[in-house]
Amino acid sequence: MTGGDISTGAAGPTALAARFDPNSLDGAFYENPYPTYAALRELDPVHHCPDGTYFLTRYADLDQIYRDRVHFSSDKKAVFGPKFGVGSALYEHHTTSLVFNDPPYHTRVRRHIVGALTPHVLQAMEPQVVALVDGLLDGLEEKGRFDLIEDFAAAIPVEVIGNLLKVPREDRGPLRGWSLAVLGALEPVVGVEQRAAGDQAVGEFTDYLRFLVEERRRAPLENDLLTRLLQEKELSLTELLHNCVFLLNAGHETTTNLIGNGLHLLMTHPQSLERLLGAPDLVSSAVEECLRCESPNQLGNRLVVERICIRGVMLEPGTYLTLCIGAANRDGEEFPHPEVFDIGRRPNRHLAFAAGGHACAGMSVARLEAQVAISRLIRRFPGMQLTGQAVRGGRARFRGFRSLPARIAR
Ligand code: HEM
Repeated sequence: MTGGDISTGAAGPTALAARFDPNSLDGAFYENPYPTYAALRELDPVHHCPDGTYFLTRYADLDQIYRDRVHFSSDKKAVFGPKFGVGSALYEHHTTSLVFNDPPYHTRVRRHIVGALTPHVLQAMEPQVVALVDGLLDGLEEKGRFDLIEDFAAAIPVEVIGNLLKVPREDRGPLRGWSLAVLGALEPVVGVEQRAAGDQAVGEFTDYLRFLVEERRRAPLENDLLTRLLQEKELSLTELLHNCVFLLNAGHETTTNLIGNGLHLLMTHPQSLERLLGAPDLVSSAVEECLRCESPNQLGNRLVVERICIRGVMLEPGTYLTLCIGAANRDGEEFPHPEVFDIGRRPNRHLAFAAGGHACAGMSVARLEAQVAISRLIRRFPGMQLTGQAVRGGRARFRGFRSLPARIAR
């Protein structure tokens, strides 16, 4: 096996597990949460948090919970009421998007979204993604020194999803900021300012989409997700707007982080980079390994709705669970040598896109973007070097970089 050890940090596991509180995380955790995750997985896999919720870290437990819709619910109204305030824009948004709902509403919305992301749509998307990436690479070449997040990774998903919903190019400027503000409010701890920014972003975002919906009603477009959702007539306007906001958000920061994390992993594991350059067909398993090692979405949640016992811990209805995807994806019971970054790893049944009824509906889009972005960048600039300080995003749920300075080797 070629690759490199991805474990770092060595604080005492007993202390790490015992004092873990997702509502009080420090800088060291944001930098590298994996020693804490390893300690929890080994010593306290169903960890009772000070606020009464549970934090789960074993692969088998997460896989079971994600697939079980009898004991566990995705409905977050009870949690988001106190968090955002019932009636607030954030509350309306997050309780209307499909991801935080159960059947039958969830099934109805999901059917339309999955139905719109067919293999045919994806096939048609590929040349657009290639052209977009190549254009960005031209820009990097011109600059010589650049930020791999701002100038590359973050510029891809906004265009891809913008194309999917046919958002006019000149209107795409605010999308990323809105998206970061709406999703930032899902962090375990949210301040007053962050909540206000989230509310404002939902308001501006839905106002904009209302305008776009009117345009589509007047002039429907071919191969357009928004036109398709409008024609289904099964969704109210509010449901349509919030699910479009969710779609624009869902594929945004997550995919940016997948591309950024993937490039960072490859550039800090030069043997793996060499291996990929020598065997380009490995790009799909390399992207899966990036998803496993540095999962862009590290945390998920479920609410217990029927009493169930997990690893000897009785979970009562009304108990709120955090499912730690980032920890499960490094569980040695599922992944041999879990701390080794192995771009040829097979099988690799990671949970980065979750599993079961809510499994990511856009995973093929994300995979396509990451495979094109990573393979074309490393082939064009094989000697690219990281320069300066890589700055982490400072979020627990969405793991990525805020800044990744790099330059082309001349
Ligand atoms: C690397 C990128 C991505 C990651 C890591 C990711 C991860 C996830 C995860 C973990 C969930 C399940 C959430 C839960 O049930 O708790 C999810 C749901 C979802 N994702 Fe993604 N996602 C990514 C990209 C995308 C893209 C590009 C799109 C759209 C084009 C998208 C659309 C969705 C939708 C619609 C759902 C809701 C599915 C449902 O509730 O049935 N995602 N994603």
